[in-house]
Amino acid sequence: MTIPDLFDLHSMGAAQQPSWPDRDAVDATVARLRKVPPLVFAGECDDLKGKLAAVTRGEAFLLQGGDCAETLEGATADNVRAKLRVLLQMAVVLTYAASVPVVKVGRLAGQYAKPRSSDTETRDGVTLPAYRGDAVNGFDFTTESRTPDPQRLLDVYNSSAATLNLVRAFVTGGYADLRQVHTWNTDFVRSSSAGKRYERMAAEIDRALTFMQAIGADPDEFHRVDFHSSHEALILEYEHALTRIDSRTDLPYDVSAHFLWIGERTRQLDGAHVELMSRIQNPIGVKLGPRTTADDAIALAHKLNPENEAGRLTFITRMGAGQIRDVLPELVEKVTAAGIQVAWVCDPMHGNTFEASSGYKTRRFEDVMDEVQGFFDVHRSLGTWPGGLHVELTGDNVTECVGGGESLLEADLSEAYESVCDPRLNRVQSLELSFLVAEMLNEAHVLTD
Ligand code: PEP
Ligand code: CO
Repeated sequence: MTIPDLFDLHSMGAAQQPSWPDRDAVDATVARLRKVPPLVFAGECDDLKGKLAAVTRGEAFLLQGGDCAETLEGATADNVRAKLRVLLQMAVVLTYAASVPVVKVGRLAGQYAKPRSSDTETRDGVTLPAYRGDAVNGFDFTTESRTPDPQRLLDVYNSSAATLNLVRAFVTGGYADLRQVHTWNTDFVRSSSAGKRYERMAAEIDRALTFMQAIGADPDEFHRVDFHSSHEALILEYEHALTRIDSRTDLPYDVSAHFLWIGERTRQLDGAHVELMSRIQNPIGVKLGPRTTADDAIALAHKLNPENEAGRLTFITRMGAGQIRDVLPELVEKVTAAGIQVAWVCDPMHGNTFEASSGYKTRRFEDVMDEVQGFFDVHRSLGTWPGGLHVELTGDNVTECVGGGESLLEADLSEAYESVCDPRLNRVQSLELSFLVAEMLNEAHVLTD
């Protein structure tokens, strides 16, 4: 397997690429990026692929979550810790309440580029390039900030390195120790009803740990977790420069993250993103929206996973609560009938976005849950495994999605709306979701046993 030429990829008519004003500056950045150390090691990508093979077989569940768009300014220790904390809490809820191993993947350390529905944005008669994520341009609505700047690709690389370094320290250095289950349940979350429920569960876990210790069992797994990075592979310059030949296997890996996914807008079968991802060895995902036909999905699987290796390919469906029960069954049925090895994961966020009357982009917690329920129902009726969840969330107390146990209203959105892109579940909503999903998973699990 060889790495395709970057120029050839572009000549395939790559979708959703920035219009860089200065090609020489881009070339210089790419040359620099080709020399930077990898963010992840190929062997780690293989490990994750093995875990996703277990998801594909119905033996594990994937929890993938993080910001819609990371920002350079947001890459602080507090932010990273808060995001990790909510993911660890959710994972422990899913593992404990459903007795299923949970594969943990963050939408972080690289999630800096966004596809947009329009190339430009107009405000008060002024038209500027749309914000494409901190990897490309700035969010501020000025000509200077919105002009794509390739230096940002290096900034994003450095920021991703720092984020991943901190995540690695947290997950192996004691923060993710199961003895810490209580301490993850801090401040405002603790007093919510999901927080109280979590506290009761954490007490049970504590008792179990004390018992295990008393009988002399203290395995490594109690003290550390495996955690993996992921982002949408969107900007060809970045992903191409970080695609390297692994010295062990002589095969190409995209060392910018453990797991990469292709977005709904860039999954053209003959497009550049599918081509590049088809050449790398990492486990990869493809987002599938409500207009995806079974033939599209089968053709993507043949192109992206010709060996039909379990763990290599994940389909992340994002149909919308109103459509999932109509469109998912045929897709899953035909893909399964074609003998395709794939992990099915539910993104209940991207099909459920709407604009509140105040102008904020938002999602209803109830719609999110309804799509997840539809996902579980469809898989149950077909006898296939609902393999995981892909969510946009934050570790902070933001007001971006409405509804949930705290009944956030549209009028509350302005209180703490911080996302530069899509609305994320806040910590309490994320924890609530994990309890509800654990119940669904518990049932699915019992049925397949
Ligand atoms: C995303 O995951 O942020 C995204 C843009 O998703 P999709 O490609 O499914 O629209
Ligand atoms: Co998003």
